Amino acid sequence: MKFFIDTASLDQIKEAKDLGILDGVTTNPSLMAKEGISGDKNVMEHYRAICEIVDGDVSAEVISTDFKGMVEEGERLSDLAPNIVVKIPMIKDGIKAMSYFTDRGIRTNCTLVFSAGQAIIAAKAGATYLSPFIGRIDDISWDGVELIKDIAEIYAIQGFDTQILAASIRNAKHIVDSARAGADVVTCPLSAILGLLKHPLTDIGLEQFLADHKKVNELLLK
Ligand code: G3P
Repeated sequence: MKFFIDTASLDQIKEAKDLGILDGVTTNPSLMAKEGISGDKNVMEHYRAICEIVDGDVSAEVISTDFKGMVEEGERLSDLAPNIVVKIPMIKDGIKAMSYFTDRGIRTNCTLVFSAGQAIIAAKAGATYLSPFIGRIDDISWDGVELIKDIAEIYAIQGFDTQILAASIRNAKHIVDSARAGADVVTCPLSAILGLLKHPLTDIGLEQFLADHKKVNELLLK
């Protein structure tokens, strides 16, 4: 399973990269806004900066909602760096745009996915990645991980190549559950990635090891 970080923060991207486990980055207009990045030129420059940090895939989202606009924006984004993946919303013109990019060898990430039906049509359009938003599904008292399982089963039966990218991850449990459910990729906030490291028994155990080591060494010095 690949690990992507879901942020536009260059500091967080660098921190995750330093762990040696980072396979890519996903962003969206809200994450860009959170970093205070606005205006076409600044947005493009920011994507270029992200691509300089990571070798893996970087999803850059279009703002347009019509076919012509998505194509024009997607082509400009894709020209920025070879690791850019054009992120396109799950709407009718988005499907047209994904088919267009698939025919031209430009990779896409279909975003804002909340159902198995949407997963099927995105795969038919040749999406490279499919982003079901599991946290937002949980927020409305449905089960986001169940959707990942469902899509993984359908894609396996049908032999679709589209990679399932579990998005809207809120915590470490979402990552573990997505791995078990068959996600090919998880895109996570840094806090959820770091949450994977945490266990109170690890902290207690380490504290004990170091205390015992210190005790023996102090006795030797006497
Ligand atoms: O990648 C999509 C993701 O950023 C959405 O996450 O936490 O805004 O639901 P969230």
